[in-house]
This record gives sequence, structure tokens and C-alpha cells, in this order.
Amino acid sequence: MARLSASLLGRLLLVAPGAIAGLTVDVTDQASLKEAAALVAEDLMNFYTGDIPGILPEDDYYWWTGGALWGTMLDYRDRTGDTTYDDTILQGLKWQTGANADFAPANWTKTLGNDDQSIWALAALVAAETGFTNLPSGDPQWLDLAQTVFDEQTARLIDSGDCAGALRWQIFTFNSGYNYVNTASNAAYFSVGAQLAYQQQNQTAADLAASVYEKLADLGFIDSEFNVYDGASTPSCSAVNKAQYTYTAGMLIEGAAYMYNFTSSPTWKSRLDSLLTRTLAVFFPSGVAVERACESARTCTQDMRFFKGLLHRSLASAARAAPHAADQIQSALRTSAQAAADQCTGGESGRLCGDAWASGDFDSSDAGAQMSVLAALVSVSEDRGLAERDGANATGTGTGTGTSAAAETGAVATGMGARVGASFAAVAGALVLALA
Ligand SMILES: *[C@@H]1O[C@H](CO)[C@@H](O)[C@H](O)[C@H]1NC(C)=O
Ligand SMILES: *[C@@H]1O[C@H](CO)[C@@H](O)[C@H](O)[C@H]1NC(C)=O
Ligand SMILES: *[C@@H]1O[C@H](CO)[C@@H](O)[C@H](O)[C@H]1NC(C)=O
Ligand SMILES: *[C@@H]1O[C@H](CO)[C@@H](O)[C@H](O)[C@H]1NC(C)=O
Repeated sequence: MARLSASLLGRLLLVAPGAIAGLTVDVTDQASLKEAAALVAEDLMNFYTGDIPGILPEDDYYWWTGGALWGTMLDYRDRTGDTTYDDTILQGLKWQTGANADFAPANWTKTLGNDDQSIWALAALVAAETGFTNLPSGDPQWLDLAQTVFDEQTARLIDSGDCAGALRWQIFTFNSGYNYVNTASNAAYFSVGAQLAYQQQNQTAADLAASVYEKLADLGFIDSEFNVYDGASTPSCSAVNKAQYTYTAGMLIEGAAYMYNFTSSPTWKSRLDSLLTRTLAVFFPSGVAVERACESARTCTQDMRFFKGLLHRSLASAARAAPHAADQIQSALRTSAQAAADQCTGGESGRLCGDAWASGDFDSSDAGAQMSVLAALVSVSEDRGLAERDGANATGTGTGTGTSAAAETGAVATGMGARVGASFAAVAGALVLALA
């Protein structure tokens, strides 16, 4: 699991009582949102040292959080027009594409899950959709990168037995978690596939995405009331772990919105509406997003402090693809974003953000908490709308490149990769918060 470096610990301890200025924002006022988002983005980027381009400092954070960082920063620049970080974003995304242009660089195979890889693919989709400067011509383009990830994962779908048609959590047999089918990996695959279907009008991608969604429902990982559970182990995929996490439900909602947009089918509208209604009830009990598996007990791991931001961004993305749901989504997101910003009273500046939004009190600062608040602010900021975003730079052959074979055979064989992620929440404990 992630360790806390001396430098992060130092920053945590900087929290100075008495210096309470706080982040001032009125989420119904676009100018105020933009001003606050710029400060939160600046504070977030202070966590990014760039020692290894693309990722947050590896002693403190998992590799996947780099993908979440660039996805968030791309949404930030698209909504606010602030291009300050463009070079950094471009360099970071490019650095982590890896030798096979599939967001699976050899350095990180010892903890590489399908969900991790897809978080980077989702960032590439935001780059494509928002017309972010593309990679040099001759290199795979943003959509190609996402397509390659999707195709590699299609090849990894379990081919027989009770779990057939679903994705495992970890990619490599030597990683613990290889025998776990987590909903998050499947939800991320589903969202990537649905967005590729939409952006390229690709029926094959839509069919593949739909079939994974249906498998999750068959397995009871999405139940008849549209609760979204964590997953289950192979070979039976029974004994479902009923922990619920915000970002997993969020990615399913985003995917369902794109599937509905692509198909116009009442089936997808109904799945989307049911998922959305249930998710708002489960995770916004008082109107403010809560990571209910850990937040009130203060046991959220470093990973989990990123999840509410992913939820907010997925919901905002769903609102674009499914305008009929936009009012329902935006009204929930506004209440939550206001609470998210209101607890940003930490650090020497008096404006660093914590994770306990619903409590109203700053708990401790880190990149996950900072990123989640930025995501919340950006998700209620003025939006150009999907149609306006389309096609700006959304070029790509659509065929992707390469296969995962080289990466898989060239992987560093180590048994040390036992990562404690969202799926093993109960084990993960309260190390981070205990230090705050
Ligand atoms: C891989 O690790 C080396 C050594 O730390 C580093 O220089 C390089 O930037 C890393 N590459 C990626 C893609 O993370
Ligand atoms: C992508 O779009 C931006 C702004 O629309 C433009 O500045 C940039 O040159 C484009 N890049 C490519 C590769 O088309
Ligand atoms: C798909 O998205 C476009 C662009 O936002 C929107 O105009 C259209 O109504 C959406 N289609 C459906 C079925 O919601
Ligand atoms: C459509 O999606 C399938 C499945 O991901 C992919 O293999 C194919 O290359 C895509 N085709 C186009 C034209 O994008």
C-alpha cells in the first residue's frame, strides 16, 4: 500500500490553527467558481513534483492517481479556459503512455489493475473530447490510446466459468487481486467503451460495453435496486462483497449516459435513471457526497480520498450526454460542491482542502482531497455542452496500436505488488488519517 513520505508528513503538520481564512466561493456565481477553482488547482498542482512526469510522488500515491489528476485538470481547463498547465498536462499524459501506447508502462506493472489503466484511458478521452492539443502526428492520438486500452481489456475478459464475460481486477497473475473481479474495473471498461462508441459511432464498442454491464447485473454486483457493490472472487463470482464506493457507481452512470445517447434506447434510459436516483440516495444522504464506506469512521485510505472527485466528474459528464438528467444531477452537485469548498480552511494559507465535506470541518490535506474539491467546483462550472466539444481534436484511426502481449511477457515478476486498494477497504485501515 502507499506509504507516507517525510515530505507529505511535513505538509500535513503545517496545518496551523488560527490561520483560518478559508476558500470563499458561491457555487451559483460563475466568476466566484472560476476564482476559487484556480486557487484549488494551484494548491493541487503543488503536490505534483514531476520527478517522474505524469504521476504524483510515488512514495505517497498510487500510479492511477496521475490519470485522475490529468482528467481533472483537463476538465478544469475546459470549463475555465485556464491554459496555465497545458504543457505539464501534455507531458504527464504522454510520459505514462508506455512502450505500447496503452497506459501500461513497465515500471508500474507490479500494481497494475485494469481499473488503473482505464482511469488513464478516461483522461485520454477527456483530452480527445475537449480538443486538447494532440500528441505529435505519427504518434497514437488520444482516441487511439483509449481504444488500445479498451481492446486489450476486451482480450482479457474471462472466457469461461461463472465469471465469464467480466474483467478481473489485476492484470498479472503474480499480483494479489488477480482472482478478484471488482466492479470498478468493469465499470471503467464500460465507460471507456460507451464513450468510444459515442465518439466514433462504433457499434462494436457499444455491444462490448453493454455485455459487461449486463454481466455485472447478472452477477448481482449491480442489484435490482441499483446498488453497486464492490465485486467477488473467481471462480464462482458469488459471495458478493457489498461495500459501496462512490466512483464505481459514478463510472457506471457516465457509461449508461453515453450508451443512452448512442442508442436512444428506453432500456438505457431506464438503467441510467435508476442508477442515478439510487446513487444520489446512497451517497448524498444530506445533499453532500459521502464516501460512506469509510468517511464517517475516518478510515478512508489515500486512494479513497480521490473517489468523490471522480464521482462528481462522472456525474457532470453524464449530465452532458443525457440532458434530460442534467437538472437532477446539477442540483445535487451544487449542494455538494458548496460543502466541499466550505471546509477548505487548512494549511498555512488557510485554504487547503480536506476530505470530510459533510462534517463541515477540515480534517487533513493531501492530493486526493484537493483534487476532489477541484473536481466538485469544475463539475458545476459553466459547460460548453457536449455538442460544442465534439470533434475539436477528436481524431484517431480508432484502431489503436499493439497488444498487451509484450507488456505482459516483459513484466517484472515480483510477488511484492500486493496493493491494498478500494476493493480491500476493510483491511486498509486508517493510517493516513491517524497521522492528521
Ligand atoms: C520509470 O522509472 C524510472 C526510474 O525511476 C523513471 O526515470 C522513469 O521516468 C519511469 N517511467 C515511467 C513511465 O514512469
Ligand atoms: C487541437 O485544438 C486546439 C484548439 O482548438 C489547437 O490549438 C491545436 O492545434 C489542435 N491540435 C491538433 C493536433 O489539431
Ligand atoms: C446526446 O447528446 C447531445 C449533445 O449534448 C444532445 O443534444 C442529445 O439530446 C443527446 N441525446 C439523448 C438521447 O439524450
Ligand atoms: C470499433 O470498436 C472495436 C472494439 O473496440 C475496435 O476493435 C474497432 O477498431 C473500432 N473501430 C473503429 C472504426 O473505431
